[in-house]
Amino acid sequence: MSLLVLGSTGTLGRQVVKKALDEGFQVKCFVRNFRKAAFLKEWGAELVYGDLKVPQTIPVTLYGATAIIDASTSRVSDFYLANKIDLESKKILINAAKLAKIRRYIFFSIFNAQNYTNIPLINLKVQIEEELINSNLNYTIFSLCGFFQGLIGQYALPILDKQSVWVTKESKAIAYIDTQDIAKFTIRSLSIEFTKKKTFVLAGKYSWTSYEIIELCEKLSGKKSKISTIPIFMLQFMSKLTKLFQWSWHISERLSFTNMLIEKQTSDLKMDDVYAIFHINISEINSLENYLEEYFSRILKKVKDLSQQKNNIVSIENF
Ligand SMILES: NC(=O)c1ccc[n+]([C@@H]2O[C@H](COP(=O)([O-])OP(=O)(O)OC[C@H]3O[C@@H](n4cnc5c(N)ncnc54)[C@H](OP(=O)(O)O)[C@@H]3O)[C@@H](O)[C@H]2O)c1
Repeated sequence: MSLLVLGSTGTLGRQVVKKALDEGFQVKCFVRNFRKAAFLKEWGAELVYGDLKVPQTIPVTLYGATAIIDASTSRVSDFYLANKIDLESKKILINAAKLAKIRRYIFFSIFNAQNYTNIPLINLKVQIEEELINSNLNYTIFSLCGFFQGLIGQYALPILDKQSVWVTKESKAIAYIDTQDIAKFTIRSLSIEFTKKKTFVLAGKYSWTSYEIIELCEKLSGKKSKISTIPIFMLQFMSKLTKLFQWSWHISERLSFTNMLIEKQTSDLKMDDVYAIFHINISEINSLENYLEEYFSRILKKVKDLSQQKNNIVSIENF
């Protein structure tokens, strides 16, 4: 099977490419910036030019591909173009996939997306899910919870940097998952007939609240956090306010995600059936404790090495 991967320079996409190459697949990456994607070529993937803002570039990239894995989504800087990137171009991609008789089409959506169609970006996801379900393609949709990797910028770095960690009082528990594990499920699905024309929720082993994550980061880093609490009504007010000004539409879009923070979701997702379908043992799934422990020990070792080097330079200078 020859794969075309979109979003291959992104957090999840790069893990999908890595796993696919490790498993011996031929991988072609749809990229808009060859320099930024050079590491994918070093890993053994082929690069092909495509830009979801320029739909004409899409069809030719499917040449020779038998499966498509779409891990792309508009960057924050392009939020004002989300309609084009996350809807119009994806419809063109789906039509091109039908014409090219693509044997498998994998798409990533957001957990419980159907409950949040009032949020513009999520609404686009739901429309693409419907487009795939109503197509004759062998699709597999993964509805994802948050990524471990996103927690570094949100919690770990501010704590290390003695900056404020922003939380809402109403914060609810989320079953974060490692993108390396999502990549395992993705690549495994290609060889499992049962996963065709199906949607699966992918979630981590445990649902974490903001306060639990902060406590874990404090324990692993040995540093105390500075917590700043923002009331949810304030975020909602700002979301409405920023909608009034065209220049701040992308801020408004991001803030509209606050609706997801207030509504309660099932926190303890039963993943056992999903693991069984994919023949993945729960012990193969990374835990947040383990992920953050590795992260902090790597960072703290680097900091220690740097300060050792600095001390050595000072001693040489004083010699
Ligand atoms: N992050 C989460 O917590 C989360 C949660 C649930 C679901 N998801 C879904 O999981 C998927 C992967 O998310 P992610 O966080 O890994 O995404 P990401 O890191 O933001 O990466 C986005 C990818 O899309 C590419 N892209 C953006 N605009 C493009 C364009 N005009 N043409 C071609 N490529 C373009 C980017 O390429 P460049 O490098 O060139 O910008 C990048 O490779 C997405 O579908 C997302 O909605 C994410």
